[in-house]
Amino acid sequence: MVDEKLRVLIPSEKIQARIRELGEQISRDFPDGDLHMICILKGAVYFLTDLSRAMKRDVSIDFMGISTYGKGKTSSGEVKVTKDLDVSIEGVHVLIVEDIVDSGITLNYLMHMLEQRRPRSIRIAALLDKPDRRQRPIHAHYVGFQIPDRFVVGFGLDDAEKYRNLDDICVMDEG
Ligand code: IMP
Ligand code: MG
Repeated sequence: MVDEKLRVLIPSEKIQARIRELGEQISRDFPDGDLHMICILKGAVYFLTDLSRAMKRDVSIDFMGISTYGKGKTSSGEVKVTKDLDVSIEGVHVLIVEDIVDSGITLNYLMHMLEQRRPRSIRIAALLDKPDRRQRPIHAHYVGFQIPDRFVVGFGLDDAEKYRNLDDICVMDEG
């Protein structure tokens, strides 16, 4: 796809290599017990499909819909569950799979909500992390890449629903 507003920040090969490393690391960290991967729609879908296939063990997957951003580029601070999980997470290891940790508002809310459902453990895997933007404390156990405070698209991340299907992670020109 050619778009003059976009510049590649993390090329596809680097993303795939990092996801393979994360898959191996997470598999080592969870040698036994059920591991349930929860994908936060829609941005994390691409990360989930690759990360789950990089795992060296059985996993189950589920999807959760959360909306914070609406159509703008800054978080409104309001979190809404638009689709809840299909099955109970009680007693299982939970891995939340998210595209990016930005303000931390979404994951902070979600962690509190899911902890009340009594999982055996709960961890976060985020493909990207923008630490400069944090408003709520969040510890992601597994992070693909730390990036500067720039708006990025591709590999699941969108700008008003566009660009999710790019293989690379790109920055948008603000000019
Ligand atoms: P948080 O609640 O501010 O941490 O927001 C997390 C959500 O904001 C992510 O799941 C993304 O959907 C969205 N988001 C944050 N930064 C970006 C970005 O640079 N590009 C696209 N979406 C973003
Ligand atoms: Mg999201």
